[in-house]
Amino acid sequence: MTATKPTGLEGVVAGDTAICSVEQGALIYRGYEIQDLAANATFEEVAYLLICGEKPTPEQTRFFKDELVANRALSPQAIEVLKLCGPLLEQGSAVPMDVVRTVLSVLGNGDPDAQDNSHEAELRKAKRIVAKIPTIIGHMQNIIDGRDIIAPDTGGDANLSHAANLLYMMTGQRPTPEAEKVMDVSLILYAEHDYNASTFTSRVIAGTLSDMHGAMTGAVAALKGPLHGGANEAAMVMLKEIMEHVEAGGTVEDWMHKAFESKRKLMGFGHRVYKNGDHRAPILHALGRKVAEQKGGEYLKLFEIGEKVQHIMETEKHIYPNVDFPCGMTYYTMGIPVPQYTPIFVASRVTGWAAHIMEQHANNRLIRPIASYTGPAVRPWNS
Ligand code: CMC
Repeated sequence: MTATKPTGLEGVVAGDTAICSVEQGALIYRGYEIQDLAANATFEEVAYLLICGEKPTPEQTRFFKDELVANRALSPQAIEVLKLCGPLLEQGSAVPMDVVRTVLSVLGNGDPDAQDNSHEAELRKAKRIVAKIPTIIGHMQNIIDGRDIIAPDTGGDANLSHAANLLYMMTGQRPTPEAEKVMDVSLILYAEHDYNASTFTSRVIAGTLSDMHGAMTGAVAALKGPLHGGANEAAMVMLKEIMEHVEAGGTVEDWMHKAFESKRKLMGFGHRVYKNGDHRAPILHALGRKVAEQKGGEYLKLFEIGEKVQHIMETEKHIYPNVDFPCGMTYYTMGIPVPQYTPIFVASRVTGWAAHIMEQHANNRLIRPIASYTGPAVRPWNS
């Protein structure tokens, strides 16, 4: 039997989806272009669109927001596990993405619908998970910063939007409308991207008829890697290295050429599908740059250096930034600790994962490809 085997399944159509279309020409969530959503929708509306399947009416939006607010608080067990993870974060054996993965799994253990894969139960679970991820991130950051956990009984301030509450839970400060808007748009941009590695992981797990929390726990592990969601943290770490190089008297050009010589992968650049640019990157770049211009100093310098890096990559390598490149600079400019960038990606992408898990369960067939064997020929055990 002959089988095609493109490495990394490049170009392989692995299934159908009605949730999202990722093409060089456009990025579309359930019929709406990403530019339209970023300009005109809120994250809550986009979350509803992805999970429930249609654009919400104003009344549905209000009800959905109330449901999220009501579900923000974590169980005492989940808070206990978060506290236990504190020393592990401090000693460095765990990073925030590992803690998000662990606590999400714990939430599954306590969810009354945990073992129920019906559509109604999955809708309830999806809303609970979307509501609780910012609380996990916030409580974790409070533990890292050595302060009391903010709003352990409610998971935040009921008057704040999802994006604003996420920032509030991390810092104890209610964000400015500008910071809230940037966070909200970044969550919209990160929400969904068809069969990317983490979503595909969630569908493979769901395809065995396993549960939503389990499927998402696996997806978090897939998102963590620097070739996927972890790239937003890795991009910022790389930019800091370039900034230090420049501060020490070097230039962006010589750092880049050394990177090219050593065939180093530049984090936040390139994409499996978008070979001529990621639709999301210029949207976030423009918003982040505005924040940097207001703050000035090192933040504006960061954006200027980032733009130089981008120009050299585009002109010399024809490789374009993906959304993680401006995300790194933007979140840094907003004062968000770097190890929380990918957990914030989770806070958004859980909406897309939920939609895919439900779509998989609604029309399930086990996902089980075949491999082409390259091992030794048959040989006797007793030779
Ligand atoms: N820096 C330097 N060279 C690159 C990069 C990069 N970031 N991306 C691709 N290339 C080169 C690559 O070396 C290869 O060159 P050659 O043909 O000479 O060997 C060519 O471009 C084709 O790349 P590829 O590795 O075959 O592309 P891929 O589709 O397998 O990988 C990717 C896509 C995203 C894994 C890759 O571009 C990469 O590692 N980028 C850096 C990590 C990153 O930013 N990931 C975020 C992805 S998008 C958003 C998300 O998921 O969060």
